[in-house]
Amino acid sequence: MLARREFLRTSLLATGAAVCSKPQMLVAASASDSRIEILLDEPLGVISPNIYGHFTEHLGGVIYDGIWVGENSSVPNVNGIRKRLVDELRKIKAPVVRYPGGCFADSYDWRDGVGPADKRPRRTNFWGGTEPNHFGTNEFMQFCSLAGAQPYLAANLRSLPAEEFYRWVEYCNSPAGSTTLADLRAASGSAEPFHVRFWGVGNESWGCGGNFTPQEYAVEYRRFVTWLPHYGKGQDLFLVASGPYSEDSSWTRGFFEELLRKGPDQLNSVDGLSVHHYAWNLSRGRTTDWDKGKGNSLEFEPVDWYELLREGQRMEEIIGNHWRALGEYDPQHRIKLVVDEWGPWYRPGSEATPGNQLEQIPTLRDAVFSAMTMDIFNRHQEKVAMANCAQLINCLNSLYLAHEDKFCVTPVGLVFGMYAAHQGGQSLRTVISAPPARYDRDGKTAAFWGLQGSASLRGKDLVLTVVNPHVSEPRETAIDLKGARVASASATTLSSTDIHAHNTFAEPAALVPQSEPLTLNGPAFTYVFPPASVTRLSLSLA
Ligand code: AHR
Repeated sequence: MLARREFLRTSLLATGAAVCSKPQMLVAASASDSRIEILLDEPLGVISPNIYGHFTEHLGGVIYDGIWVGENSSVPNVNGIRKRLVDELRKIKAPVVRYPGGCFADSYDWRDGVGPADKRPRRTNFWGGTEPNHFGTNEFMQFCSLAGAQPYLAANLRSLPAEEFYRWVEYCNSPAGSTTLADLRAASGSAEPFHVRFWGVGNESWGCGGNFTPQEYAVEYRRFVTWLPHYGKGQDLFLVASGPYSEDSSWTRGFFEELLRKGPDQLNSVDGLSVHHYAWNLSRGRTTDWDKGKGNSLEFEPVDWYELLREGQRMEEIIGNHWRALGEYDPQHRIKLVVDEWGPWYRPGSEATPGNQLEQIPTLRDAVFSAMTMDIFNRHQEKVAMANCAQLINCLNSLYLAHEDKFCVTPVGLVFGMYAAHQGGQSLRTVISAPPARYDRDGKTAAFWGLQGSASLRGKDLVLTVVNPHVSEPRETAIDLKGARVASASATTLSSTDIHAHNTFAEPAALVPQSEPLTLNGPAFTYVFPPASVTRLSLSLA
């Protein structure tokens, strides 16, 4: 890796080329070994803000301690909800939050979490321990409303009858005073309906959600969604069928084949197909064992950095493959993909708060991984209607870590902040070429792509996000805006000379993005992307 001083020198020199208007800027551009062309006249479609969604489950420290601290806590809170968390979620424009699981969802009775808090039953949590049910539907809705996000609920298909799905919809959405459940909702402080639009019909129904075959699940799905309460125009539900894990398109095909045995109209009962993909196997092909294949979140070598990114890069093919499979049954592509769980998954041992199940401390590696994944979603915005990073706080690829009065934003949270600028923008076709990053993989040279990213335009605001995955080499890049003139520009970069850089409760600002204004006098310029970095260029077009 470059020494910090050497890296700064290289970076500043090339940034100098980017900011000055002298002829050598063009010379520098043609000398670059990498190119980015942003095709402003080739819009691909609007990037749904929901691609930047989140996931919260009754698991470890996610709900209790993470979100819910209780009304009587000394931790600043709004009606029991951690105030700092909702403030942060507002900053990153959190669009949607999935709840209550995960695997927890298919063992959860929503009735346990409503009504007077002191009368709620204690239950055995799917993940072990006792679930106190202090946090339930009303509390979650309040959390979403404080955060400015829409709720996305996962219904229990494994262990509750279809009637309970129907009743949960009724509890959430029936108009004030119209039903007994609306009255129960009002008694808990919410007379007005929650208007929950997004509903998952089970979770991982091939595994913890029922261990079904795709055909068996399709039969259950038909039964669960055959009739659900509707409460007027503009209040249609968006129903998400439990989909495959990673590449398993036999699930996608099996599900739709069985669903459609009752006729083509059945297609109208599905709006989204969920896809889950975790990057966990860092064994370099040695094992497929779920426990043995995992790596450590904080201690890793450059080879592990690249292997994690390779596992994450599979997302692009996964999206393409399921989209093709979907197209065999829904050629118009009305049904979209909902990637409602994604992120790296490491072995236990690096919890910020000992005892917090599945908690890991994200590093710069996870920020680069997350940026790369969000760029993939941006590039495939016509396919992906929603995505939910697993999970929001105190868990896997978390944006935040919190314990009692301690709180920090992780590198993943910082990247979400940088990428929020893409929400609602027109995704633009962007052609990127760069020499691959090469690394030693058990004595053989392996290659990973050298530069990737995505661009979007909203009005005159052009946003380009770029990942340089190379652990030690900067990428001097010629950027071509195809004739567009820039009125003002700035760069925001998240990087470090230490690929393990991360934030902790003791050092919450060890890693923060750096921003600087850029002066560009033409539609073509060079920019140097530092090693191991995520960069956002914000360009205001003239
Ligand atoms: O995110 C943790 C778990 O991973 C979820 O509960 C489950 O859906 C998945 O297997």
